[in-house]
Amino acid sequence: MKTIRDAFFIRQGVDMGDIRPVFNKVVWIDKPILKATLTCSALGYYEAYLNGARVGKFILAPGWTSYGKRIQYQEYDVTSLMEECNTLDIALGNGRRYHGNGHEHYESITDKEDALIAALHIEYEDGTEEFIPTDSSWECSKSNILYSHVYNGETVDFNANTDEKFPVKELRDIDTKILIPQEGEEVREMARLGVCEVITTPKGELVLDFGQNLTGYVEWKVPAQKGKEFRLYHAEVLDRDGNFYIDNMRSAKVEIKVISDGNEHTYKPHFSYQGFRYVKLEGFDKNAINPDDFNAVVVFSDMKRTGYFACGHELVQQLYENIVWGQRGNFLDIPTDCNQRDERFGWTGDAQVFARTASINYRTKKFFKKWMHDVAADQHEDGGIPHIVPDTGWDSYGSSAWADVAVIVPYWVYRTYGDTEIIREQFESMKKWILFMESKGSERGLFDTHDCHFGDWLSLDAGDEATGGFTDNDLIGSAYLAYSNSLFIEMGKAIGEDMSYFEELYDLSVKAYRKKYINTGKPEHETQTANVLAIYFDLTDDIQREGAKLVKDIEECGHLKTGFVGTPYLLHALTKIGRSDVAYKLLLKETFPSWLFPVTKGATTMWERWDGMKVDGTFATPEMNSFNHYAYGSVGDWLYTTVAGIDSDFNEPAYKHIIFRPLPIKELGYAKARILTENGEIISSWEYTGKGNECKFSFTIPTGSHATLYLDNEEYEFESGTYDTVFEYEG
Ligand code: BGC
Repeated sequence: MKTIRDAFFIRQGVDMGDIRPVFNKVVWIDKPILKATLTCSALGYYEAYLNGARVGKFILAPGWTSYGKRIQYQEYDVTSLMEECNTLDIALGNGRRYHGNGHEHYESITDKEDALIAALHIEYEDGTEEFIPTDSSWECSKSNILYSHVYNGETVDFNANTDEKFPVKELRDIDTKILIPQEGEEVREMARLGVCEVITTPKGELVLDFGQNLTGYVEWKVPAQKGKEFRLYHAEVLDRDGNFYIDNMRSAKVEIKVISDGNEHTYKPHFSYQGFRYVKLEGFDKNAINPDDFNAVVVFSDMKRTGYFACGHELVQQLYENIVWGQRGNFLDIPTDCNQRDERFGWTGDAQVFARTASINYRTKKFFKKWMHDVAADQHEDGGIPHIVPDTGWDSYGSSAWADVAVIVPYWVYRTYGDTEIIREQFESMKKWILFMESKGSERGLFDTHDCHFGDWLSLDAGDEATGGFTDNDLIGSAYLAYSNSLFIEMGKAIGEDMSYFEELYDLSVKAYRKKYINTGKPEHETQTANVLAIYFDLTDDIQREGAKLVKDIEECGHLKTGFVGTPYLLHALTKIGRSDVAYKLLLKETFPSWLFPVTKGATTMWERWDGMKVDGTFATPEMNSFNHYAYGSVGDWLYTTVAGIDSDFNEPAYKHIIFRPLPIKELGYAKARILTENGEIISSWEYTGKGNECKFSFTIPTGSHATLYLDNEEYEFESGTYDTVFEYEG
């Protein structure tokens, strides 16, 4: 049977400049059909219509993969859309071709141009079949999209002449073997938010507030005023004076321009998305604005929601909501660092630190498996992992904590869902990364002779302008070698591999690490992050000694100083040394720097930096200041595993053996988490009754799981069922 691989990539046969093309084919049917399937892909983004109806719901299809090696195609059942005379119109957006940072993606495939490939497959009731592939028999026309760019936005002119037909060009030199079936979750329109407030800023700007920082676009009614241009600009925050602030978008113009033809139209962008809460309107009549004419459409990968957390502390609750919104905003086919400025890349470090929290919030199995295939595809010959996947062409690679994504993301997918397939799929890639680290050591077991590391990114211990943090990068590298290798060993054993080589390497790593980095007295070895890694990664012979230093530093300065590397494990490390009181102090701290400080400043998503907005309301440098960056949202897994106390025993992953270890604290009043696991629903909740230290606990264990509860130094075993108990909780 013929497949999409038998079609040809096609491109417009005439130069259309920036105008986006629409490819057309008319197909007549003269007998009853059983089934019709449209298969489609593109270099760039596509949007398909059959007889005027949108085919499928995938936004920004065919998704983002390592285009030089793998491009997904999608299959749509279009039987119900078929008529006697069928018109197929497929618009082509320029996707991720040029994103303004100097990296180009399709270079090796198509000489940097976009192209469409599709096939309509019709099965008739009489047993015959028809296959209509893209080829030179198709035509194309100019769409009304005069300009389209992921970061810059879109320009649409409803007056444009879209009737004229042009020939298309077949691109026979593009190897269609590059096409693979859809692997990930489709990006879809997941929610719609209305306008909360129409604001006139002190500068006189007309601004809509949607009340939530989000990823997507605005769907709006274009006023019917022939020839008039209407413009929308997108921002995450207003400045201290309440004016529209867009500097942190860097080169991304986030500009939507629409020219009316005098008729009413509802418009939303086709091939562009924005990260925003506020939208500035230009060209509109202030007095005629009807907020109901504007809706923010939230788009993200259609994953199943699996984790829920609630507590009686308003700011902590908002922090949790911000974490979930951070995921919604940045799980768009690939895990992106941010959703607004001229990046929106698959930054590996960010994804790695957030993977555990993300996999509890949503079922990420399919999403991450697809992306990990790209991680492996883009891995360098010597085992080094690019900083960004899909790789956008950086010369350097292999930064510790970033490249460790190769092991850490598969680990959390395995641990959360019990999926061993991901271990098999990624085994060689993980192994190559461990061997890469091993090969770059001053002695076996250390990863300390590689010179490209981002370090404890955006930590607070290296001065205001420094991004890399004060912690020794070689220490971080060697710590991650031991940690990633320990996870690799655990996964290898789970699929029956002989891991003795790596076990030996692990023992050497721990020994060498202790000698070179533990208790040296050197300030770059004694940072909060260094102590956290030693405790959490089990790299010290004395966790209490490292713990005492960590607590002392926190108490002396009164706050956390950790960056991307230390922050995900900070509260876990404090819990591990028995100082959950200090962990709670950090969690509940409302002043800068802390997790709740942004909440007090009205944040509705996670900020990239602790000081994104400063105490006085001014902003950190616009060069690096995203207000929707999930990395510090990695504290979410502590809310689930420690505040509410639901974790999975690593010996019995996928919550087959549940570890309940809740940590009640009066300031929260109550906490409750609910996780929909592969076995069913787990609930853990606690609530102070108001009578002294009396606290009511409740646990639900699904069929097929069993649990151990640790409470006040006691241990209890449970089979599946629901259990309630009330007792004096000493803490
Ligand atoms: C990104 C980060 C990323 C970092 C690398 C930034 O531009 O937004 O989140 O991890 O670069 O250090």
